Amino acid sequence: MKIITVTGYKGGVAKSTTAIHLATYFSDRGSTVLVDGDPNRTALGWSSRGKLPFTVADERQAMKVISGNDYIIIDTPARPHSDDLKELAKGCDLLILPTIPDVISLQPMLETARDLGDANYRALLVIVPPHPSREGEIMRQDLVKEGVPVFNSMVRRSAGFPKAALAGVPIRDLKKAKTKLAWIDYKALGDEIIEEWNNGR
Ligand SMILES: Nc1ncnc2c1ncn2[C@@H]1O[C@H](COP(=O)(O)OP(=O)(O)OP(=O)(O)O)[C@@H](O)[C@H]1O
Ligand SMILES: [Mg+2]
Repeated sequence: MKIITVTGYKGGVAKSTTAIHLATYFSDRGSTVLVDGDPNRTALGWSSRGKLPFTVADERQAMKVISGNDYIIIDTPARPHSDDLKELAKGCDLLILPTIPDVISLQPMLETARDLGDANYRALLVIVPPHPSREGEIMRQDLVKEGVPVFNSMVRRSAGFPKAALAGVPIRDLKKAKTKLAWIDYKALGDEIIEEWNNGR
């Protein structure tokens, strides 16, 4: 069983969206449960409006459903305190910290990274403005330069995500080819995670 926790110091940075789409990715590989620890119950609401290809469990009931599954994805609220983040990191195989590429997010991300030290975590750039903006790549390089572990994959900003939330499906399952295009970003992220695990990291 592999456990991935999605968290961060800030609200509204696509934590739940990331948890839902990673759970979608892993549900193609094995039995997957998303544990909804977001007080807004974003994932439970999402699945109640439509259909998600994995089980969503309220965190208060998760103990009963997680055993025997291959992948557990845990969605959490924003955790402004790095002590909390450190404790969370100990309870999973990988901690993912989504972050938006803007100037004001860089400094807090660097501080969080410093506090996390050698914990098993990765930053993920999300809601990245589309080409020709280079904001995503610039922030990624800034993080790399500062020694912060960050995924090569980035998730673009796309109107498909709120549409998928409304329809209660992963963006992959939207009808129009154009609105579901950004699925390839989460697919690339999933591939990157698997590759790292295969390399023993
Ligand atoms: N790649 C994206 N492109 C465009 N909009 C996005 C993207 N990812 C997420 N969003 C939108 O951003 C908003 C916040 O996303 P989400 O609820 O996943 O964030 P969160 O970090 O879980 O928030 P909270 O801290 O409240 O739990 C939602 O309206 C969502 O549809
Ligand atoms: Mg959330």
